[in-house]
Amino acid sequence: MKDIIDKLEARRAAARAGGGKARIETQHKRGKLTARERIELLMDRSSFEELDMFVEHRSGDFGMEKQKIAGDGVVTGYGTVNGRTVFVFAKDFTVFGGSLSETHAGKIVKIQDLAMRARAPIVGLFDAGGARIQEGVAALGGYGEVFKRNVIASGVIPQISVIMGPCAGGDVYSPAMTDFIFMVRDTSYMFVTGPDVVKTVTNEIVTAEELGGASVHAQKSSIADGAYDNDVECLLQMRRLIDFLPANNSSGVPQWPPLDKAEREEPSLDTLVPDNPNKPYDIKELILKVVDEGDFFELSEAFARNIVVGFGRIEGRTTGFVANQPMVLAGVLDSDASRKAARFVRFCDAFNIPIVTFVDVPGFLPGTAQEYGGLIKHGAKLLFAYSQATVPLVTVITRKAFGGAYDVMASKHIGGDFNYAWPTAQIAVMGAKGAVEIIFRADLGDPDKIAARTREYEERFLSPFIAAERGYIDDVIMPRATRPRLARALAMLRGKTVELPGRKHDNLPV
Ligand code: HXC
Repeated sequence: MKDIIDKLEARRAAARAGGGKARIETQHKRGKLTARERIELLMDRSSFEELDMFVEHRSGDFGMEKQKIAGDGVVTGYGTVNGRTVFVFAKDFTVFGGSLSETHAGKIVKIQDLAMRARAPIVGLFDAGGARIQEGVAALGGYGEVFKRNVIASGVIPQISVIMGPCAGGDVYSPAMTDFIFMVRDTSYMFVTGPDVVKTVTNEIVTAEELGGASVHAQKSSIADGAYDNDVECLLQMRRLIDFLPANNSSGVPQWPPLDKAEREEPSLDTLVPDNPNKPYDIKELILKVVDEGDFFELSEAFARNIVVGFGRIEGRTTGFVANQPMVLAGVLDSDASRKAARFVRFCDAFNIPIVTFVDVPGFLPGTAQEYGGLIKHGAKLLFAYSQATVPLVTVITRKAFGGAYDVMASKHIGGDFNYAWPTAQIAVMGAKGAVEIIFRADLGDPDKIAARTREYEERFLSPFIAAERGYIDDVIMPRATRPRLARALAMLRGKTVELPGRKHDNLPV
């Protein structure tokens, strides 16, 4: 018996050694952890249960039959993050560059299927060279199996992809179909075709970092929802994110014991909005002051900074926040901001996370660049996302809510359950200057008349009361009381039920 146990231990040790000491050292020298070290950091201590540790590839071409490494380049299993079940697969770059073979794909597929059966989130840690070149179509078939499962799981369990090394070819499309992608600065990159192919096809000379580094995807392409300085910080932030996420689309949001009273008022909010309507202020200050313990997990922070999205908690329960940011482009809605917020609203709706929307928006961004770039369809994505949402929607207009953007930003008309305004709110078709120049064009030569007309317009329209008189705004609230009012509204809406007509699926303007 002892012999058998020793043999098992020896086989386990061989599998844990991955591609061997030298390759592990190279991995460390590059500032990267190994697959197993990463899993240790992501999961609660000693909670990880590894599966398929002894799986080997079945390839017999190019001398591969002589090179077999237990595990075949991916570590898979499940464990807990702060006590909640999470499934994980981590590409092991030290084994065939983490490349995907038929059996490697089979291990990922098994974990995907288990995660779906258990209705628990799945995290993929990527550090890999794409399809196992020696396997050809068997590897491509494997990718297809993974992709299909990503799509079936979408909207059922949260799927998170973390890019911690190279990620090219087949490896980029699975992350692209998951809910979130995060990257590590300087050590990770993502692209469909690498710099060499780019040079051959387009003659463009570009480095891997310039083509698909973390800054490219977090700031320009919006492929990544965030970037972190190193593996450790990244994985600790993933633990923080997972704490906000429901286990699945019917579990409801997690409930953590709140240390912050729901009735807490914030007197400083009474002076957050400056007297001058053109002066910016930081909407994140409002978010941080209303969420439990000031804990806010922002997504896509570096992209379309004119809108802020992320998770906070009210009374210990996850809440999605969407807020126009007056500090950037005056909080205007453009194509990027609309896409960013639309995707977030759809995630929240899919997983039954209530949404709080803070509105200070001067409208949609005019101009050829926006129109040629498809602003109509991109703006419609956000309108569509809010209009189809059946989760609790609570909206607070802090200042401007002009034009179509008023409708789009979770207005009463498209499904807002509670629509509040601060006394500083201005709800109108447009700002005073633009409005007066159009409706009193004949007076344009007379500055006194124009000034009087502007004052008249401001007094009549630039307030929350016209909307409140119609019931479009449920109440005009004191800024300091925002948190208690949100808490009460969200508590009341916990059982919200909305039936939409049956259909195969909608036709979101993609
Ligand atoms: C088999 C691979 C591999 C692969 C890397 N390795 N990629 N083995 N298949 N795709 C192996 C190397 O042979 C090497 O083995 C080890 O992994 C480390 O690779 P290095 O090249 O030494 O490392 P590095 O210099 O860091 O470069 C990493 C890399 C590079 C940029 C990822 O290896 C690379 O370009 N790989 C090929 C990428 C690629 O074109 N993949 C196919 C994409 S097509 P040893 O034994 O020496 O340690 C694709 C199609 C799917 O994925 C499409 C589905 C939609």
